[in-house]
Amino acid sequence: MEGLLFINACVRGPRSRTLPLARRFLEMWQQKHPEAVITERDLCRDRLLPQYPEVLEERDTLWSAGKLDDPIFAPAIQFAAAGRIVIAAPFWDLSFPAILKIYLERISVTNITFGYDDLGRSVGLCRAEKLLFITTRGGDFSIPEISWMEMGARQLEALCVMYGIPSFQCLTAQGLDDIRNDKTTIMAQAIEQAEKMAETF
Ligand SMILES: Cc1cc2nc3c(=O)[nH]c(=O)nc-3n(C[C@H](O)[C@H](O)[C@H](O)COP(=O)(O)O)c2cc1C
Repeated sequence: MEGLLFINACVRGPRSRTLPLARRFLEMWQQKHPEAVITERDLCRDRLLPQYPEVLEERDTLWSAGKLDDPIFAPAIQFAAAGRIVIAAPFWDLSFPAILKIYLERISVTNITFGYDDLGRSVGLCRAEKLLFITTRGGDFSIPEISWMEMGARQLEALCVMYGIPSFQCLTAQGLDDIRNDKTTIMAQAIEQAEKMAETF
């Protein structure tokens, strides 16, 4: 079993409800794959810069010079090489926190995570067979009337196609900020689901 890359975008850290879900999943997965190495990238610690003009210019210059071994491309190379990928992030403003978007912009590099074939068609270059997105939401976006408003999991699922990752999975606990719901039960059910998903991931 190859290594697992864990992208931690749980901004609230110890107060996060998403993070314990991810930790439980990783714990169970590690038990199942004791030989595999889990590498964590904590986006709050990383503090990658957004692609401001000068950042993008530096990246374009290095890319055009073929310097793909420059540290600026290290996150993309790490992502492309991972055997399994787990991303954990809360549901913010119908999507996920900006730190995750910054990371996704940083790893989306032509000829590292995706490219084009001779006919100009987009091809994914990532090795991972599976990507799991773990998230918790204040509202319940499984309700058909509003499910279209959910933009976080859907964006990641589409990016998996671009990166060539065949299996996208999502683990979510929803409705956690709705006073009509029992948060403890919802979280317990999600933890149980995390344990089940770790069996086959
Ligand atoms: C900045 C911010 C934006 C949020 N935006 C939404 C939202 O658009 N829809 C929603 O249902 N919940 C929203 N929430 C609630 C969170 O999705 C919910 O509380 C989640 O469980 C937080 O995850 P965490 O405990 O891992 O931080 C938002 C919370 C914060 C702090």
